[in-house]
Order: sequence, then structure tokens, then C-alpha cells
Amino acid sequence: MEIDRRAFIASLGGAAAVAGMSHEAKAEALEHYMEEQLDAQVAANSGQAEKFPTVAEIEAQIETRDFRRGTGSLFASNRGNVKKLPAMPDKPTLKDFFELRFQPANHVLQSATRAMKTGMSEEIILACLLHDVVLNLIKPDHGWWGAQMIEPYVPEKTAFAVRYHQTLRFYPDPEAGYEYPDQYYRIFGHDYQPPKYIEDTYKWLKNHKWYMEPRLVTVNDLYAFDPNAKVSLEPFMDIVGRHFKQPKEGLGYDNSPSSHMWRTMMHPDNPL
Ligand SMILES: [Fe+2]
Ligand SMILES: [Fe+2]
Repeated sequence: MEIDRRAFIASLGGAAAVAGMSHEAKAEALEHYMEEQLDAQVAANSGQAEKFPTVAEIEAQIETRDFRRGTGSLFASNRGNVKKLPAMPDKPTLKDFFELRFQPANHVLQSATRAMKTGMSEEIILACLLHDVVLNLIKPDHGWWGAQMIEPYVPEKTAFAVRYHQTLRFYPDPEAGYEYPDQYYRIFGHDYQPPKYIEDTYKWLKNHKWYMEPRLVTVNDLYAFDPNAKVSLEPFMDIVGRHFKQPKEGLGYDNSPSSHMWRTMMHPDNPL
């Protein structure tokens, strides 16, 4: 298979991100990239619309795995064994987490890049940058977990947007430019109905004065793979500096209500 070098590097977050990766991480990323390209080619060549699974088919897969789907991505690898992680500095910053635990973080970087290009507020750009980073820790209810994790350090609107983007992802809003994502037919099943607590949260959000904050995160919540997108953390460091209250003791050691969450991502190999 021919590899478009530029597209591959862009998919990892740009040349700077690649430079920071180990040889092993690069090899693994290349393999993953080739698999994705192959899947896309097969789908395109067959000329058929993708067939989405049902909820029952997805449930039938549960007992075929030795891990649960909600496991944070730092804790399980679907491509061979997990790797030894680099140590973190004594006083880790958000940037250290991006470089040493969240990488390549392509999805959140692409979302934030789009938010910046379309002139959104700094609170929303920051929300886009952070909206899914908690998936490294845990996946179910990631809006709530994700907001809790960042809440001590970010503006109220940013935490609100992260908490409720999870709910609004299930509800199209064509006027705002948000459609139900194909990816959700794929991962939840095409006949999936959100549970009652999500429905109730949606009804409450619809009339909330801050409805548009999480809505704008969903608008930027793309799964699209743009081979020309060059993304890195660098363009967001000013916004992070202005709006993310970096604790002087380091994330994880500042005794905030969510310090333990950062510590768990720092040391996912701890047995207890
Ligand atoms: Fe999300
Ligand atoms: Fe997302």
C-alpha cells in the first residue's frame, strides 16, 4: 500500500508531535494508519453503503473481549500489549499530559483547530481542546467525568460545555450545523435510544441559557479525517495560559477534588 507521508504525519498531529514520539509509538501508529486506510479503500471499492450494527449485535460482542469497552485507552490496547509509559515530571502541566499521556490527541486538537478557525470564544476553544481527554481514563459518561476532571482549573462555561456535549451528541440541531454522527450508528447501534437520564438532561439543556456552549463543542466534534490538517498544541498555548489555572504543585499534587484523576492517568500501572 502506498503511504501519503504528509497525510500520515498530519494524522499524528504534525511534525512536532511525531518528533516527540518513540520509535515504537511511530511504528504502531503507522500500522494503525495503514489499517484505517485499507478499511476506507475496501469500503470505497465495494461501492456499498456501510451496514451499521444493531444494539443486539453490539451487545453480543461483549463476551468476545477480555476487557470492557468503557476502559480508558491508557488501560487497554486493542493492538497487542500495552507499552511502558514515559515518566512524568515532578510538577506536571497540561502540556506534559498532552505530550506524555494523551498523544497523539489528534481528535481534540482537530476539534480545537476548527473552533479557532471559525472564531469561537476562548472558553469554547479550550472546551474543544479538552472535551474528550478523559477518554484516556474512562469512557462511559465521559462528559460528566471529563468536566469533573477539569472543573477546578477552567472557566465555568468550559466545564459546562464539556459536561453536556456528551448529551447533545445524540440530538441533531441542523440550525446550529450539527447532525447525528454516523460514528454513533457504528458504536451504539443504528437502533439505539439514549437512556432516560440523557433524555432528561437534553430537555433541561434545551431551555438553558448556556445551551449553545456544549452545542458548539458538538459542532466541532468531528470524526472527519482531514489529511491536510496540521494540528499541534502550540497554537492553543496562549489560551491555555489565560484560562487554565495550572496549579503550582503540578496537576495531580494540588489536592483539588480531581487530583486523583490526573494521578491515575500519570500512573495507570499502579496495582492499587
Ligand atoms: Fe465526546
Ligand atoms: Fe469528541
